[in-house]
Amino acid sequence: MSPLKRNAVAGESSKLPRHIAVIMDGNGRWAKRRGLPRSAGHSAGADSFRKAARYCQKLGVEYLTVYAFSTENWKRPADEVAGIMSLLEKYLRQALRDLEKEKVRICIFGDLAPFAPELQRLCRECMDRSSVYTGAQVNICLNYGGRDEIVRAARRWAADGCPELSEQVFGSYMWGGNIPDPDLLIRPGGEKRISNFLLWECAYAEFYFSDVLWPDFDEKEFDKAIAAYQERQRRFGDIGDNEA
Ligand code: IPE
Ligand code: IPE
Ligand code: MG
Repeated sequence: MSPLKRNAVAGESSKLPRHIAVIMDGNGRWAKRRGLPRSAGHSAGADSFRKAARYCQKLGVEYLTVYAFSTENWKRPADEVAGIMSLLEKYLRQALRDLEKEKVRICIFGDLAPFAPELQRLCRECMDRSSVYTGAQVNICLNYGGRDEIVRAARRWAADGCPELSEQVFGSYMWGGNIPDPDLLIRPGGEKRISNFLLWECAYAEFYFSDVLWPDFDEKEFDKAIAAYQERQRRFGDIGDNEA
């Protein structure tokens, strides 16, 4: 595999992805392998996310979208869910303290209604106060499901009086509005499925699967994923450069 092209410019033919999406999976198994409770895995996963966000920003990736809690994850034992909620609160409080230093726009994708009022408040404050930053954007998917997103988009479109529909118009009703689609979707943790993540947005994403568990998915692993992406030929249904 060729090494990561570090001086790549986002979106150009040198192919640094403008938008990376990550299914942050494998926290539970990471903890189990160490004889630790699953909560320790989620805590290590949160650290890994902080590092990933900084690294992507440093590389010049414009959008990072992470799957932190799915519409299906409520099925988990109540104590695990409560642990994840308190980690989210901790993360958001820290993010608010670091806003001016990090200068990253934070968006939350997902319906916040089922969350505790304080967690909802922190989410809104993070979104409001970070909206002034336009350099890099991190989207955190909480209580997020790809099908749920599409159904909500349809409801909002109907509530708007059914304006003339196109892919562009319908896309504008997704959580991210019309931000560019993910170029690269990374799933650590060994599973090869999409688990209801970004079903609309990943129509032409390049998929990268890795057996490395999310808490161990460090800068080196990101480099490998991006280098693999840079080797791909994206055709979007066309015949590709080699044939032209
Ligand atoms: C991902 O890690 C975090 C969430 C889904 C909240 P998991 O908790 O799914 O870890 P594994 O897949 O059980 O190892
Ligand atoms: C996907 O991981 C959701 C998140 C990482 C937040 P899961 O662990 O919930 O996915 P499945 O159940 O293995 O498909
Ligand atoms: Mg999992």
